[in-house]
Amino acid sequence: MAKTWLVTGTSTGFGKELATLLAQKEDVNVVATARNLAQLDYLDQFDHGQIKKVLLDVTNQAEIQTAVKEAVAAFGGIDVLVNNAGLGYFATFEESNRDQVRYMMDVNVWGLVDMTRAVLPIMRKQNHGVIVNFSSIGGLYSFPTLSFYHATKYAVEGLSESLAREVAKKGIKVLLIEPSGFRTDWAGRSSQKDLPTIADYAEYKEFIEANANGAHHEAGDPKKAAEIIYQQVTDNYADLPLRLPLGKISSDLAIEKYQENLDQFKQLRELSLSADQPE
Ligand SMILES: NC(=O)c1ccc[n+]([C@@H]2O[C@H](COP(=O)([O-])OP(=O)(O)OC[C@H]3O[C@@H](n4cnc5c(N)ncnc54)[C@H](OP(=O)(O)O)[C@@H]3O)[C@@H](O)[C@H]2O)c1
Repeated sequence: MAKTWLVTGTSTGFGKELATLLAQKEDVNVVATARNLAQLDYLDQFDHGQIKKVLLDVTNQAEIQTAVKEAVAAFGGIDVLVNNAGLGYFATFEESNRDQVRYMMDVNVWGLVDMTRAVLPIMRKQNHGVIVNFSSIGGLYSFPTLSFYHATKYAVEGLSESLAREVAKKGIKVLLIEPSGFRTDWAGRSSQKDLPTIADYAEYKEFIEANANGAHHEAGDPKKAAEIIYQQVTDNYADLPLRLPLGKISSDLAIEKYQENLDQFKQLRELSLSADQPE
């Protein structure tokens, strides 16, 4: 039986690579969504009646409902939802623009939440499904000038972990994708950058500029990421991990962060226990 994947943000980057890969699979129906359907022309070369393009801005509730309805009408269900759409924002914590932060939260967190809530009733009825949520190594490990981006991805991590526990018995799995730098549009057009104007933060100008200049030169290959995600969901379904760091930098930082936390939690063990009431 063909599996139906719905992917958000398939105009460029990870979403485009995943949609391209899925479009070439005979046993996959792909619902490729984007804010501008003209950006999905690349799919036309593959269309064998198993591709549906749907207009979708993940901050638009009406478009979310329509996209999900259209997917079900076309293919009878949704087996895999990929919440990929997202953007970044570079600025120091103190200087971050509130409107920009709120918009990023709307896309990275609420967009993912609303999409997932729209699809969950279908997956619960089916008694199966996979929800692939794009987090980031930035959902585990924090750099200066990205505090609010991290806040969105840590939110994705927390809600995904909790959701995974809630829906496991309904046969629904959650997979968090945690890439380090990959060659997509993320560090370029998809991330607004506000350079520091407060002298105390001047040293971070270089970091923000280096990220902007490094766009499209990152180590990560989004084509390989798409293949890994497809392989995990299809061939490793039984043992699907909750967290999947992608790229060497991501793997290194994830291990470093968890190791540091583990060492510190152990060191604090007696102190931690001393806070309870005596039994
Ligand atoms: N590349 C990296 O180094 C990296 C690392 C860790 C995590 N990530 C995450 O990977 C995901 C995909 O990003 P990417 O790296 O592939 O970057 P990208 O090439 O810039 O792609 C971002 C995608 O999100 C879409 N999008 C943005 N706002 C949207 C909205 N309101 N509604 C629907 N779609 C929207 C964009 O559509 P438009 O073309 O319409 O703007 C585009 O298709 C993001 O969640 C990002 O945080 C990326």
